[in-house]
Parts: sequence; C-alpha cells; structure tokens
Amino acid sequence: MEETEIVNFPNARVLAIESSCDETAAAIVENGRIILGATVASQMEIHARYGGVFPEVASRQHILSALPVVENTLAEAHLALNDLDAIAVTRGPGLAGSLLVGLNLAKGLALGSGLPLIGVNHLEGHLYSAWVSPSNQGLPPEPRFPLMALLVSGGHTELNLMRGHLDYTRLGATLDDAAGEAFDKVARLLNLPYPGGPSIQEAAIHGNPLAYKLPRAWLEDTWNFSFSGLKTAMLKLVQELKGSGGPGIEGSPSLPVNDLAASFQAAVVEVLFKKTMTAAREYEVNEILLAGGVSANQALRDVFLNQDEFPVNIPPLSLCTDNAAMIAAAGFYRLAHGYTDPLSIDILPTWPLS
Ligand code: KG4
Ligand code: ZN
Repeated sequence: MEETEIVNFPNARVLAIESSCDETAAAIVENGRIILGATVASQMEIHARYGGVFPEVASRQHILSALPVVENTLAEAHLALNDLDAIAVTRGPGLAGSLLVGLNLAKGLALGSGLPLIGVNHLEGHLYSAWVSPSNQGLPPEPRFPLMALLVSGGHTELNLMRGHLDYTRLGATLDDAAGEAFDKVARLLNLPYPGGPSIQEAAIHGNPLAYKLPRAWLEDTWNFSFSGLKTAMLKLVQELKGSGGPGIEGSPSLPVNDLAASFQAAVVEVLFKKTMTAAREYEVNEILLAGGVSANQALRDVFLNQDEFPVNIPPLSLCTDNAAMIAAAGFYRLAHGYTDPLSIDILPTWPLS
C-alpha cells in the first residue's frame, strides 16, 4: 500500500460495528482516538454452556443485539446518525454468519444516512486498540513507528512490523493453535470454565510456574509460533497425573490444577515474550505493541512491562478483547487515507492482514 498523506478530517466521528465472533459491539470514536460511546453485548454466558463459541447461536444472538447496541451507543454519545462521518464495520476474519449480521446492518445504516462505508480487518482493529481511549481518560498514546506488534487472540497469533499507519508486514504467525485457543483448550482439559484465558490466569495465581517442565517451541530462524506440542504435553501430563493413561476420568480431586495452569501459562508467556523481544531488536523498532484478547493476560503484560529495553504499549483490559472502538479507530485511519468501500462489499471470513 502506498503511503498517502492523512486527509484532514476535523472532528471526524466514525460509528463502528463489530460482530466477528461472540461479542456484538458498537462504538463511536472521534479522530480515531477518543471514544464518545461504546457498547459491548457479550454472549459469553451463553457459549460457556457449550464450552466454546457455537456459531449458529452466535449469529442469532447478533441479530437480536446489533440494533439495540447501535442505538445505545448513539444515545450514550448524545449523537444522531447525521452527526457522524462514516460507518465502519468488521468485514473479517471471523465467523461467516456473525460477520454477515454486522455488515448488513452497517450497509443499511450507510445507505439510509448517505455516509461512507468502511470495511475493517478485525486484526487491524486489534492493533488500533492501542491508540484509542475513553473520553474521560485523557489522550491515548501516539504510535512510535516503526513498531513491533504482537497480536495474540483466540483466532490469531502473529508478529507484525508496522512502519506507519495501515502499513503491516507479517513476520510470522502460529503454525497451528493460536495462543488464546491453546488457553481455551487447556482450560477445558483442566475442567476450568470457558473462556479459558481468564480461568487459567486465575488458577495460575495460586500455582507454581516451575512445578512442571513443559516444552517451548522456539522454531529458530523464523518468527513463527507453535502451541500444539505444548497442548499435547499438557494432555499427557494430565493423563499421567490421573493415572489412567486415557480420557474418561474427569475432575480427579487430586489434579494439581493451579500448578498445571501456572506452568502452562509460563510456557506460553516465555515464548511470546522472547520471540517478540528478539524481533524488536532485529528490526530496531521504537516500541512494542501488544494487542488481542490474550494481551489481557497479567503475566504476559507484566513480563513486557518489567523490561526497559523498549517502550511498550498495551491497551486497557476493556480494549484487549473484542470491541468496536478499535474498529472505529482503524476505520478513521482508513477514511483519513481515502479508503472507503462500495455497498456491494462482502464478508471476508479468512482475511490475512498482510
Ligand atoms: O481478541 P479476542 O477477544 O477474540 C478473538 O479475536 O479471538 O480474544 C479471545 C481470546 C480467548 O481465547 C480468551 O481465552 C483469551 O483471548 N483471553 C485470555 C485472557 N483474557 C482473554 N488469555 C489469557 N489470559 C487472559 N487474561
Ligand atoms: Zn478479536
């Protein structure tokens, strides 16, 4: 993509809709940086019953929540559609049925209001969550390009070099499970509730991270990640500890869940941290950025915040997991660079960032 001058949009307000997975969210963001209103309708409790996201249930819930979430956001910001400058929406990657609900509502709003439509990549949104703040919390940090972005969510784990706005070079990504997916699967193995990340973090507080020696996949000479070996090692360990060698005996009271959770979390965090630091040195970046649901993990945040080689920007917890403020922020920069989309655009359930 060619680097273009940012067109001046004084006080441009972008309304965004996010419905790629199990949160229905809307937000209005001014100048890509200040959140004027934001609503997230979480389906977490519903999906917890199934131990993971149930796609058909997710899209039906999005249909029920999408319009009320937009109306609530407009009311919170004391704005009407004709006070806005664009409608942004997550176009992908994500669950097809869920994405369709958000995109169709965004198209309807854009058509009815005459505002431009902007399709945003969900991963791009996660990165922009680092530079947006609620209006009562002062100005968010400015990006210091070039920067190294570690994007860790339930569906993705990748290292991106950002040389400027909307400019991404993916250096590497997971070859199998995403970090969040590994947290969710291991939580299930340990009989901890969905979503697995927060459950493992909570259990790990009471555990010893050195209790079990677990494998780390360094994948030398690449910036890729792999968590399937760690997941398998956890499965074998749990089977050994249960003394059965096979599934079937669930919830043995003797399973040292806290130590297992702490050892697993330490293995994931160490690989994410060391590989990101090495990449940051190699590309001589000015800062490190963490984004995505797993960047809510306190152990991961701590290890980055406790080093002083690079400044680190990690979004507040409410912006780490899926939200629409990040989509509005990314949408603003797309608008400011002159990118809008026709109403004929379709969803892109698999859409790499670069
Ligand atoms: O970014 P996100 O909300 O959705 C995707 O785009 O995937 O990320 C959700 C993922 C889930 O796998 C969840 O278990 C993980 O983020 N997660 C965490 C924590 N909070 C959420 N993982 C580790 N520690 C946490 N505190
Ligand atoms: Zn996400």
